[in-house]
Amino acid sequence: MKAQILAGPPVAAALLADAAARASRLPALPHLVIVRVGDDPASVSYVRGKARKAGEVGLRNTVHALPEATSQAELLALIDTLNRDDDVNGILVQLPLPAQIAEAAVLHAIDPRKDVDGFHPLNVGELWAGRPALTPCTPAGIMYLLAHHGVQVAGARAVIVGRSHLVGRPLAALLLNADATVTVAHSRTCDLGAVTREADILIAAAGCPGLITPEMVKPGATVIDVGINRVVSIEGKGHLVGDVHPDVADVAGMLTPVPGGVGPMTVAQLLANTVRAAELQHA
Ligand code: GUN
Repeated sequence: MKAQILAGPPVAAALLADAAARASRLPALPHLVIVRVGDDPASVSYVRGKARKAGEVGLRNTVHALPEATSQAELLALIDTLNRDDDVNGILVQLPLPAQIAEAAVLHAIDPRKDVDGFHPLNVGELWAGRPALTPCTPAGIMYLLAHHGVQVAGARAVIVGRSHLVGRPLAALLLNADATVTVAHSRTCDLGAVTREADILIAAAGCPGLITPEMVKPGATVIDVGINRVVSIEGKGHLVGDVHPDVADVAGMLTPVPGGVGPMTVAQLLANTVRAAELQHA
């Protein structure tokens, strides 16, 4: 039997409709500021997508595109200005940053109340303490997707493959807060297949094309593919593939596609976080 394919766009639309309704009840429309440094093609495309979607749902948005040679001091000065500006509700600095800028210094500098990425150590700590405020967009979007499709999380065995600060670690905290039994596997895990076969909910976030093959999946499991890997076919055409091999559709109960699965949820959750940040600031 083929897995039910969990398309992201209709679920993202539900999340966006809720965010837009909440935004309209605020004294001013929330304002998201996105900062990009340099011209990394993936970052240019992601930032364009985030700004376009913000405009579509009626949020105010501003993009600062800074040159590749921007110094850390210059970027920190801009963040300081945005922190002090009461007209700015959310600040996102697109990662990765050029080598001359220390990522940790930048993430520490963003006002935690405007930290729509949820990467500030205060927000990371609150999440692990079970008091989430602003939580990282991809993991929060995945939790929304699971809830939308009625996937039972409490009591389930959840296995995350990948321990990144953007996805694997915060998702572990969210699943734990939702009463799942959570395992985080990674590149040094021995016998990965034995670990992943335990999962009722399997999340692949390793950045490794086709890593998860059918024999690594428990029949009927819910499989969430976070991989966005650009591969070039023998005809020289570039396309996106996930971390999950397509044949997993023959084993899984539910499966997110790439593209068009988790990606739209990330963008929708960013805008929901922007509305949440504005609500917290107006409270
Ligand atoms: N680069 C890739 N994903 C993300 C994200 O979720 N937030 C930021 N700021 N940069 C990213």
